[in-house]
Amino acid sequence: MIAPSILSADFARLADEVRAVEGADWVHVDVMDNHFVPNLTLGLPVVQSLLKATDIPMDCHLMIDDPARWAPPYAEAGAHNVTFHAEAADDPIAVARDIRAAGAKAGLSVKPGTPIEPYLEILREFDTLLVMSVEPGFGGQSFIPEVLAKARAVRRLVDAGELRLLIEIDGGINMDTIEQAAEAGVDCFVAGSSVYGTPDRAATVEKLRRVAAA
Ligand code: DX5
Ligand code: ZN
Repeated sequence: MIAPSILSADFARLADEVRAVEGADWVHVDVMDNHFVPNLTLGLPVVQSLLKATDIPMDCHLMIDDPARWAPPYAEAGAHNVTFHAEAADDPIAVARDIRAAGAKAGLSVKPGTPIEPYLEILREFDTLLVMSVEPGFGGQSFIPEVLAKARAVRRLVDAGELRLLIEIDGGINMDTIEQAAEAGVDCFVAGSSVYGTPDRAATVEKLRRVAAA
């Protein structure tokens, strides 16, 4: 699955930019609060408007403090996935249950330096694990291959039937790096600058899909 990230889109033309990736599996929306990460993007009102502008399932990646308070409203608004950071949540299980109760899939994200072992037990409460392959905050950074060990570890548990969730990767995904992520067992690939930096976004999404499946 391919999830273009609109972080690299033209924010003055967001509805058109989302429609430009029609055919993508999800559209990835990066919510940043300038506290959890040193950058500020957009929030609930913009997501609510974008939900009206597209039928592509929306993958909301919340890089924010206090997800217990802020995550459920994204689910209520109609987001397909609501993913928050393990490092920002005091009680990730409670947040996941609130997201699911509000009708969305729940995702847990970990920064590159955050180990996955402490969270393996609670992953049964989630539909997605989002492995960050750059430090969250900005698009256009270089892929950190070391994080693939986390994807491999969780892939083994999924394949063994011990967990049921999608493994998603975010940061530095392009035609060169997507192959190694696919080999590590990643299901869903977020791509920002490598999609929105090209003139034909839909064609790039198809190309990424083909390389990942090869
Ligand atoms: C970074 C965001 C990513 C970002 C990825 O904090 O979570 O979704 O858009 O951008 P690229 O694909 O350019 O690394
Ligand atoms: Zn993201």
